[in-house]
Amino acid sequence: MRARYVFPPGFLWGTATAAHQMEGGNTNNTWHAWEQAGRVLEGHTAGRACDWWSGRWREDFDRAAEAGQNAHRLSVEWSRIQPAPDRWDEDALEHYRQMVRGLRERGMTPFVTLHHFTDPLWLAEMGGWENPETPQHFARFVGRVVDALKAYVADWCTINEPNVYTALGYVEGVFPPGKQDVRAALQVAEHLALGHAAAYEVIHRLQPEARVGLVLYYRPMTPARPWFPPDVAVARAQHRWFNHYFAWAAGLGRRLLPVGSRRDRRLGPSLDFFGLNYYTSDRLAFAPHRPGYARRVFPPEAPLSEHGDIAHAPQGMFQGIRWAQRFGVPVIVTENGVEDGEDTLCPRYLAEHIHQMWRALNLYGTVKGYFHWTLVDNFEWDRGWTRRFGLWALERETQRRTPRPSADLYAAICRANALDTDTVARYAPQTLLALLPGSHGVS
Ligand code: FCB
Repeated sequence: MRARYVFPPGFLWGTATAAHQMEGGNTNNTWHAWEQAGRVLEGHTAGRACDWWSGRWREDFDRAAEAGQNAHRLSVEWSRIQPAPDRWDEDALEHYRQMVRGLRERGMTPFVTLHHFTDPLWLAEMGGWENPETPQHFARFVGRVVDALKAYVADWCTINEPNVYTALGYVEGVFPPGKQDVRAALQVAEHLALGHAAAYEVIHRLQPEARVGLVLYYRPMTPARPWFPPDVAVARAQHRWFNHYFAWAAGLGRRLLPVGSRRDRRLGPSLDFFGLNYYTSDRLAFAPHRPGYARRVFPPEAPLSEHGDIAHAPQGMFQGIRWAQRFGVPVIVTENGVEDGEDTLCPRYLAEHIHQMWRALNLYGTVKGYFHWTLVDNFEWDRGWTRRFGLWALERETQRRTPRPSADLYAAICRANALDTDTVARYAPQTLLALLPGSHGVS
């Protein structure tokens, strides 16, 4: 039996990257300070990263284009463009202009993320996103970027994963500024939501035809013991704050309250597309002494990634799209991938997640693109260089890139605009049965 899962013409296939993880030499932002303070695993620092600031983006864009990708999602680094509150660096803007033009020249559609986890040091000194004026600072920065790049860019992601930024920076304390302070977290969340809405407005004022989205990290959270009400309650609560908060703000213009929600005119609706990042799924068990009263466990049957960070749970991709399409705008999978330096799980992960995306697309018809995380191994935030998500492996000293088999698998999918069982049989034979019609992707 054979099957071929075909995507609509014009479907976007690409990879996603972020400035601080790729560029190298970013020394004026919060992550640099965090690295210098020794807060990253094994004392790693981003250092030269993938050397994009010296121009190596050209060879990487060549690779992506030759591998059949027709889009790329990258981010711009605020601290380069606005190194001080009253200073704008035109050379930095010109550098990004060359990059997005470089994508167009290669036949690729650029998606530009305006905030991806890093903040300029001057902003952090003013209180970062705890400061109620930060949404306006952000909107000013966004205006400059849009003016400079709009000749080449029409697709904008305002803020990457505000839910992760808030949870890891202000609740768990493993991202800068390293706080564990729920009150601060609630303020930061509100200001990020307002920052998104302000950016949405500025972009549309400068470029009416633009498409603007928010990128959210979606994590399905199901009760570990569905018959046990406390597990059901914590799973619901975490789903509400982690998944719903920003989706409701941007998608519905509603602010969540401890009980219920309130319409807030400043928020929106402010979405032209929903950027969905999906990696893995959780089961939640009630745990009275843990933060959020919950212990997270991976689905017991799911294979784990190299360091156990990600459980292979492709049905979550289907659930995520079903959830996101309810906000009434097209969905773009803005990130999906797995840390897997040996490339043992990644081929199967890719095939099964893309299959689930195809199923959701067929039922809901609103998925417009897929960006794999990531093109080349890069600086993985608090995990430093220990996590390898790249389709291409990076040897940091020489900057040599080597394709993993997953790069070829993904290229076959992008070129065909389809996933077919012959390709799967070649790169991920162990998952073939799960991809045949009628199996619903359950291996
Ligand atoms: C996402 C981030 C991205 C990368 C991947 C692995 O949460 O947006 O920068 O670190 O995880």
